[in-house]
Amino acid sequence: MRPYIVGNWKMHGTRAMLSEARAIDRAAERLMKVEVALAPPYTLLHATRKEAALIGVGAQDCHAAEGGAHTGDISAAMLKDSGAGFVIVGHSERRADHAESDADVRAKAEAALAAGLAVIVCVGETEAQRDSGKAEAVVARQLDGSLPQGEAAAAKVTVAYEPVWAIGTGRTPTVEDIGTMHRSIRERLKAIYGEDGAALRILYGGSVKPDNAGELLAADEVGGALVGGASLTAESFLGIVAAAHEAIEA
Ligand code: 13P
Repeated sequence: MRPYIVGNWKMHGTRAMLSEARAIDRAAERLMKVEVALAPPYTLLHATRKEAALIGVGAQDCHAAEGGAHTGDISAAMLKDSGAGFVIVGHSERRADHAESDADVRAKAEAALAAGLAVIVCVGETEAQRDSGKAEAVVARQLDGSLPQGEAAAAKVTVAYEPVWAIGTGRTPTVEDIGTMHRSIRERLKAIYGEDGAALRILYGGSVKPDNAGELLAADEVGGALVGGASLTAESFLGIVAAAHEAIEA
C-alpha cells in the first residue's frame, strides 16, 4: 500500500497559507507513489479543496451528532459538504483540551463514517505512562474504546500512533520502540477487525521532520506519518513526502 503522509495544520493558517497547499499539491504530481493529504483548519477546508487537485483534504475533528443545537460545532456531513474526504478524530490535543473520552472519539468516528468520510483515529501514551511501562496497554485500551465498530469500518479507518511526549517536542521514540508499538497495534487491529485489521494503515506521528522521516518510516508496520509543525510549509512537508517516496524506491 502507498505510504500515507498527512499534514495536520492544527490551529494554524489563514488564506495566506493557501499558497503552501498549492505548492504541496503541485509537487504531489511528481511523488505519486505517496498518498498525500492536508488537514487545514475548518476555515480553510473549502478553499484548500478548491486549490488542490491531487492531494486529499480533511478536517481535524467533527461533532458526533448529525446536527442540532451545538453552537460552534461542525458535523461530519458539513465537512463532507465543504470538500473534506476524511477527518482526524481523537487527537491527544482534543482528548486533553476538550476532555474527549474514548467513547466520544468512537462516536465521532462512527458519525464520520456514516457521512461518507474516512477517519484517522489517533492514539498514544503520555510520558508518565511510558515511564511506568504501560504504553502498550494504554494504546490497546484506546484502540478498543475509540475505533468505530462494524465490519465495513476497517476499510475506511487509518490509525495514527502519536506518543503525547513526542508531539511538538523534537523528541521521538527509537525506531525499535516504534516497531514494537506498531506491531502491538497491528495485533490489536486484527483482534478487533479480523483479517481486515491486517490491511489498514498505521501512521506514526510526533516530531516527524525531513531529516528523520526516512528512518521513522522504515520502522516495522509504519504505513506513513501524521505531521504537525513540519507540515506548515511546503518546503519541509515535501521533504517528508520525498523521504517516503525514496523509501519506496529503495
Ligand atoms: P508535530 O509534528 O508538530 O510533533 O505534531 C504531531 C501531531 O500532533 C500531528 O497530529
